[in-house]
Amino acid sequence: MAQGKTEPPARIKTLAVDIGGSGIKALLLDESGNLLTTRSRVETPRPATPKAVLDVIAGLAKAQGLFERVSVGFPGVVRQGVTVTAPNLDASWQGYKLAASLKRMLGKPVRVANDADVQGFGAIAGRGVEVVMTLGTGVGSALFVDGRLVPNLELAHHLFRKGMTYEEQLGNAALKKAGKEKWNSRLGKAIQALDALFTYDVLYLGGGNTKHIAIPLPANVKIVPNVAGLLGGIFLWRE
Ligand code: BGC
Repeated sequence: MAQGKTEPPARIKTLAVDIGGSGIKALLLDESGNLLTTRSRVETPRPATPKAVLDVIAGLAKAQGLFERVSVGFPGVVRQGVTVTAPNLDASWQGYKLAASLKRMLGKPVRVANDADVQGFGAIAGRGVEVVMTLGTGVGSALFVDGRLVPNLELAHHLFRKGMTYEEQLGNAALKKAGKEKWNSRLGKAIQALDALFTYDVLYLGGGNTKHIAIPLPANVKIVPNVAGLLGGIFLWRE
C-alpha cells in the first residue's frame, strides 16, 4: 500500500427481501439505504411453504451478488425471527424459525420483520403519530410514534364494516370481487376510520394496489412507492 494512504472503510451490503403474497422481491442496499442493484422479482410459489419460499430466496440472493447481511419483510406477525402468522401463505409458517433458517442457508446474519413495519421504516418522517396501511394481497398496517414502532398492529383481521375485516374489504380478493369503484369508496371509509382511531399526523398508503386509488386523498394521506418495502430493510440494522 502506498505510504499515507488508508484502506477505504469496508462497505456493508444488505440483501433486502420482501416476501409478498404474489411476488418475492430482492435488491441490495448500501449502509445508507441507497439502492445498489435493480430489483429482482419472482412469483410467490404455490403452495407457499417455507421450503418453496426459501428456494426462491436462495435464487434471488444468488442473482443479486455479494452481501454481508439480510433484511426480510414477511407478510404476517413475526416475533424474534419466528413467524407467528402468515394469512396469505401456507399454514406451515406458524412457528417457523425464519431468521435462523435463512441464516443457515445464506451464511449471513438475518433480521426479519413484518412487511408493513419494514415499509413504514422506509416511509416515515419520525415525528408524531404515523400510520401505515399497505394494500396488496393482504392489508398490512403499522403504527409509529415519534419514529418508534408500536409492534404487532394487525388491522387486517380486525372488524372494519358490515361484519367484514379490513382485509376482507380491501385486500386483493376484495378488489377483484367488488371492483375498483366500490374498493375506492371502502378505502375512503377506512381512511376516515383510521383517523378517528389514531388521529394520525400522517397516514402512508403503500403496496401494489395503491395504483388503483382513484379518490382524492386528504393532505396528510400520502402514497408511498412500492420500493419502500425493500428500502426500509436497512432500518432493521439501526440500533
Ligand atoms: C397480515 C399482515 C401483513 C399483511 C400484508 C395480512 O394478512 O396479517 O401481517 O402485514 O397481510 O402482507
